[in-house]
Amino acid sequence: MIPAGTTLAAARRLLADRLAAAGIDDAGTEARLLLKLATGRDAALAGSAAETCLDAAEATRASALAARRAAREPFARIAGCGAFHGLDLALNPACLVPRDDTEALVDAALRLLPAGEPAAILDLGVGPGTVLLALLTERPEARGLGIDLSAEALEAARRNAVTLGLADRADFAEGRWTDGLSGTFDLVVSNPPYIPARDCDALAPEVALHDPRLALDGGADGLDAYRAIFAGVGRVLKPGGHVAVEIGIGQAPDVTAIACACGFRLERLSSDLAGIPRALVFRQAGPAG
Ligand SMILES: C[S@@+](CC[C@H](N)C(=O)[O-])C[C@H]1O[C@@H](n2cnc3c(N)ncnc32)[C@H](O)[C@@H]1O
Repeated sequence: MIPAGTTLAAARRLLADRLAAAGIDDAGTEARLLLKLATGRDAALAGSAAETCLDAAEATRASALAARRAAREPFARIAGCGAFHGLDLALNPACLVPRDDTEALVDAALRLLPAGEPAAILDLGVGPGTVLLALLTERPEARGLGIDLSAEALEAARRNAVTLGLADRADFAEGRWTDGLSGTFDLVVSNPPYIPARDCDALAPEVALHDPRLALDGGADGLDAYRAIFAGVGRVLKPGGHVAVEIGIGQAPDVTAIACACGFRLERLSSDLAGIPRALVFRQAGPAG
């Protein structure tokens, strides 16, 4: 699609047109990022740099990447890494692409972790390490355990922990939520799958076709994971410990009801950058809490 000898600037225009025709917002920016991935050069550079030509291998690579993006594969998946909380996280097909919405959960969790104090953190559904590694980066005295049902997602999490220099404070294990877990934690965090099963296919193609179903599908009403997590999490919490969970749009009342039925009380609700309630913090009710 892009002939060898095309200038960087012209290639960017061609790619942007292709991506726009495929219904991609901000096609210009994405075209620039794809070209940088294909050539190592930035088409936003002014002057003669933008007039350098793509050689045959670069043109072939750029065309192939553009075809993938036009088929609505997300840029992060094409690049094999996603940015979250200032970290570059390696991703594989079993990993959810990190979402900016999840910053609300990280922010809520950090409020529960006083700087300079040791803490034991459990991340249920850790994926590529998104939440746990962000927290460990911010709290050098903390340690963490990440659980996931996907062995493949855990491979990415372990790799990210090593790359970020956090491997000595982060452990990972394959498992189903808290099943079989021993030990106790000051804070349990989770961004579980919370999309109602019937809605998964109607999500944007980037999500429906490319994010793993295991990371999206929350069962018939989207709440299965919360039921399982709150039923088991009390056993692995230290007295006075907290549970912080991400939620989908409109799920705050239902998730609160599930948590309360399991002996927790809501302590905080945080919203994402769009003002949508996105993270709930619970504490065990009763004399210990
Ligand atoms: C929405 S993704 C969150 C990934 C990452 N923590 C984040 O915030 O981006 C949910 C994660 O839960 C995992 N998962 C799904 N069912 C699970 C289960 N029963 N037990 C443990 N992990 C599970 C998925 O594999 C996926 O990595």
